[in-house]
Amino acid sequence: MKKKSLISRLFVFAGAYKYLTILGMIFSSVSSALLLVPILFIWQGLSLVFNMYPNITMTNSLVKYAWLSVGTTILAVLIYFFALACTHLSAFRVARNMRYKSITHLMNLPLGYFNASGSGRTRRIIDGAASATETYLAHQLPDLVGAFTTPIVVLVLLFVFDWKIGLISLVPTILTIITIFAMFGKSRLDMMKKYQTKLENMNNEAIEYIRGIPVVKAFGQSIFSFKKFHKSIIDYKEFVIVYTYSMRKFMVLAQSFTSITPIVLAFIGILLIVAQTDPKYFLLNFLFYVLFTPICTTMVMKIMFTSQNTMLAEDALNRVEELLNEKPLQSKKELEFPSSFDIQFNNVSFKYPNAQNNAIDNINLNIKQGSTIALVGPSGGGKSTIAMLIARFADTSSGSIKIGGVDVRDIKESELMKNISFVFQNTNLYKESILDNVREGNPQATVEEVMRVLKIARCEDIIEKLPDGINTVVGTKGTFLSGGQAQRIAIARAILKDAPIILLDEATAFTDPENEHEIQLAFKELAKGKTVLMIAHRLSSTQNASNIYLVQNGNIIEQGTHKELLKEKGEYNSMWNEYQKAFIWKEGGVL
Ligand SMILES: Nc1ncnc2c1ncn2[C@@H]1O[C@H](COP(=O)(O)OP(=O)(O)OP(=O)(O)O)[C@@H](O)[C@H]1O
Ligand SMILES: [Mg+2]
Repeated sequence: MKKKSLISRLFVFAGAYKYLTILGMIFSSVSSALLLVPILFIWQGLSLVFNMYPNITMTNSLVKYAWLSVGTTILAVLIYFFALACTHLSAFRVARNMRYKSITHLMNLPLGYFNASGSGRTRRIIDGAASATETYLAHQLPDLVGAFTTPIVVLVLLFVFDWKIGLISLVPTILTIITIFAMFGKSRLDMMKKYQTKLENMNNEAIEYIRGIPVVKAFGQSIFSFKKFHKSIIDYKEFVIVYTYSMRKFMVLAQSFTSITPIVLAFIGILLIVAQTDPKYFLLNFLFYVLFTPICTTMVMKIMFTSQNTMLAEDALNRVEELLNEKPLQSKKELEFPSSFDIQFNNVSFKYPNAQNNAIDNINLNIKQGSTIALVGPSGGGKSTIAMLIARFADTSSGSIKIGGVDVRDIKESELMKNISFVFQNTNLYKESILDNVREGNPQATVEEVMRVLKIARCEDIIEKLPDGINTVVGTKGTFLSGGQAQRIAIARAILKDAPIILLDEATAFTDPENEHEIQLAFKELAKGKTVLMIAHRLSSTQNASNIYLVQNGNIIEQGTHKELLKEKGEYNSMWNEYQKAFIWKEGGVL
């Protein structure tokens, strides 16, 4: 399918403002044509002077031409000003709509999308596209129209005068145009796309690099642990060198053709003047070409530089369109939330969009309403993936997940979100007060209610140490909460939300046994009377679960209660023994 032109794709975001862009383009074109008129007046003045030679005096006609040329210049500038006013108004509207549409669309995307594609990348796509297209619409487009108008008008003038000299003097311009067309073929657009991708990769790796610095320092690793970042820089460098070299030939040619215009003209002039019967008349006409031809070439160069920016705008727009084409999850039936909360996995498999293998494979599990089950197992086994599928961060690749007998795909998204609380493995608190962070669970809650849940979640010791209590803004005044502390605040938030289904992905980041103990107590409160799936990284949390599933390589390899699993003497049993050993080692034998 042939892609629509850049401008019509941009007009999708413009609404009625597109007429302003068109008006701006017309104004810009009129202004460019008008800007040539002063040169005509100057030339006419010059011819007067020529004809008066050798007795040159200031005449009324000369003054008139001078004023006319000043007047038309001012008029042309004024019209250009209006052109820019029109295109700017429209460009701002397009940038605004593009941001608005993308962000509204983002809100409807499955939550899994945000895990897969970095938030930095998404932000840059939207911001980058909005600003690249804004400059394109506000400046480049009107200038481009103007730049096309000038050579056309000049061409007409040159040919009306004397088509033979006109044609010869245009030779450098024509050569420049041919070179430019050769330079901006389809392969060039591909190159530009590659350039953008490599730049984006390098940016992303740089962010990863900065995020990883603490790890490097803590483990005394060398810089080589950042091979990916290094590779992205080398990749970029190598590409840019090839890219630049491939442009060299064309740029040299185009620049040379532009610069030789005066030489070509002088050469033609000398050749022709000797054969003239009226050299004065010839010289005057020739002056006309000397004035106009360079304008033509300059404009062609201007078009060339604008085409480069056009490609940038086009590439940025492609990225936004790609984001807008990302499919939101569809709920065919938009059902209300069911009144019972048993959760059932039927042969569920899931593969992450760009992964090779299934992250989970044919999983069957049941959580009875009001009971707590625990997932345990080695890192990367698929525990978080299972939890995330219940909240429909993504849709299963095959199999189904049912809550109260209803497929999660048939439940309204807002209903699903309202009835499930998710405490993530890595809790991200917002940069706002503790009060507001907890209130995310229920914006209508009073301060007393927030205090109550903070107490239930055993966060009092955290709050006590903060300078402004619950009004302390997280991340300011040296307030940095540990992973475990942040998770306790998140549990308070979940208690406040009071959803019937709880998904708790225990934090792995904290090791302090006191925090661990507090979290377990907090979690016990949260789990009261709810249907709970907990992911336990410490086996001490699992003993009260009605069923424990051991997840490894995307499969459930053992299941049963704590006692049953110990009796089985399988994998769980050895994990338990390991865990006890570690615990005794750490705590000096107290269990
Ligand atoms: N966004 C993603 N894109 C591609 N693959 C992913 C993504 N998230 C997780 N995976 C892969 O899916 C598999 C299961 O990951 P998951 O996070 O569910 O493991 P986990 O059991 O929760 O591990 P941990 O105990 O370390 O939290 C892993 O192989 C992981 O590399
Ligand atoms: Mg996990």
